[in-house]
Amino acid sequence: MPANRRQFIKGLAAGSVLPLLGGCYANGLNSRVVDLTARSAKKQLLANGAVTEVFDYANSPGPVILRARQGERFTVRFRNDLEKPTTIHWHGIRLDNAMDGVPFLTQDPVAPGSSFHYEFTPPDAGSFWFHPHFDSLDQMARGLNGVLIVEEREDPGFDLDLPLMLKDWVLTDTGEFGRITSKRGMSRAGTFGNIRTVNHQINPLYHVPAGGWVRLRLINVDLTRVYKIILDAVEMPEAFVIAVDGNPIASPSPFGREHIGPGQRLDVAVKVPDRPGAVFAFRNTSSSKPWEMCRFQAERADDVDVRRAMPRLPLNPIPEPDLAAAKEITYRFDSGVGDGYAICGGIHEKVPTFWTINGIAWPEYAILPPPLDVLEMGRSYIFELANHTPHTHPIHIHGLTFKILESNKRAVDPFHTDTVLLRPDERVRAAFVADNPGHWMFHCHIIEHQVSGMMGHLQVV
Ligand code: C2O
Ligand code: CU
Repeated sequence: MPANRRQFIKGLAAGSVLPLLGGCYANGLNSRVVDLTARSAKKQLLANGAVTEVFDYANSPGPVILRARQGERFTVRFRNDLEKPTTIHWHGIRLDNAMDGVPFLTQDPVAPGSSFHYEFTPPDAGSFWFHPHFDSLDQMARGLNGVLIVEEREDPGFDLDLPLMLKDWVLTDTGEFGRITSKRGMSRAGTFGNIRTVNHQINPLYHVPAGGWVRLRLINVDLTRVYKIILDAVEMPEAFVIAVDGNPIASPSPFGREHIGPGQRLDVAVKVPDRPGAVFAFRNTSSSKPWEMCRFQAERADDVDVRRAMPRLPLNPIPEPDLAAAKEITYRFDSGVGDGYAICGGIHEKVPTFWTINGIAWPEYAILPPPLDVLEMGRSYIFELANHTPHTHPIHIHGLTFKILESNKRAVDPFHTDTVLLRPDERVRAAFVADNPGHWMFHCHIIEHQVSGMMGHLQVV
C-alpha cells in the first residue's frame, strides 16, 4: 500500500504528547501547555507476550514525545501518580535553575499525588529528553524517560522526522524486572539490560519515504550502554551526522561507527534509496554479538522531491567562550571505594561508593555536599576532564553547554555538547561561558556510577 501524508507527517504540532504507535505518529493537542503524569502502567515489552508493570509518563505503547518550540514558552503541568516522590530533569536544556528538576538542590521532590509546573523557554532547537532525578536508578530503569524535541523556528524540511529512543530493560521471561543493579556492575561498566528496545519495541520496522531525506534522532536513555552504531544495508544510503546532543554541527560528517553514551543524542540525516522495498538498519556493534536495533523500509510516497539537497539545520545560539581569558579547572574522574548516603535516592539509605570526582564521592554527604567549584557569572571556563579509570564515562553538565576543544585520544572538530563521552584514560578540554546562575549538577550518566559517587555540582554566581 503506498504511503501517504498521514503516515509521513513531518511538521507535528508543538507541545503535543505524541505516543509512537508502531512507527506512525498519533497526533495530539496543538498546544504549548502539556499535561504529563507519572504513573504505573502495563507494557508489553517481551516477544512472548508477557506484560511488564512499568513506570510511564503516558498510557501508550511507545515513549512519550513532547514537542516544544525554540524561543517559545513551554509549560508542563506535571502530576505524580506514583507511590514514590519524583522530579523531572530536562536533559540538555539551558533553562532557569528552578526548573532543572534536581531534588534538594533546585526543588523539593514532587510527593505522591502532588503536582509541579515546569515552565521554560528553550533557547536551543534539537533532540533532548527528560527523566527523573530522584531515585534515578530505579525510576529510569522502570521506564520513566521521555523525548523532548525542540523544533526549529522554521521547519528544516525533512520528509520524515523520527525519534528513536534506545533503552534496554532487565526482564525475566515472565516480564518481571530482574536485578537492575549489582555491586559488580556498579563498580565496573554498569549492569546491562537483556531486552534491547527502540521506542519500547524489539527491532521495530519503520516505513520511510523512498527518495526522501529523513531525520532520525537517536536518543540513548539507557542507564548503562554505550552504543556503537553502524548503518547496515545492501545498497548503502547517504547518511550524515547533523547534530550531536541536540546541537547542529557546522559541517555534517558522514555516518560511520558512532559511539552514543547514556544521555547522548545523535541526529542523522539519511537519504532513503529511491526504490520502494529497499531496506537499511541500525546495528549495534558494542558487544561481541552485534544486533540489529531497528530497520527501515522505503515506500513510495507522493510528495517527495527526490532531487532535493539535504536540509540544513541552523546552529544554536550558544555563547562563544573567550579562550584567552578563560579560567582552567581540572576534574579527575576516578575510582574510590567507600560508602555513604544515596541522594537522588532514599536519603538515609547507606550505599556503597565506587567513584569520585577530584577524590570526592558525593554520597559521603548525608544531604548536599558543597559545590565542587563556584563559578563567576559571565566568565569563560575551560574544564579539563580527565578520566583516570579503565572505563568509559559520559560526563553530563546541567544548564550549560560545553564546546569541546580537544582530546588527547582523537582529533576533534570543535562541537557543542551537554554530555562528553570520556573514553578510558582520555583527557578532554571543554570550554563554556558560565552564563546561567544557580546550582548545576555535573555527573556521570551511567546511572550506577552517578549514584555511587561520580556526581557533584557547580554553583554559578
Ligand atoms: Cu540526564 Cu543529571 O541528568
Ligand atoms: Cu561513569
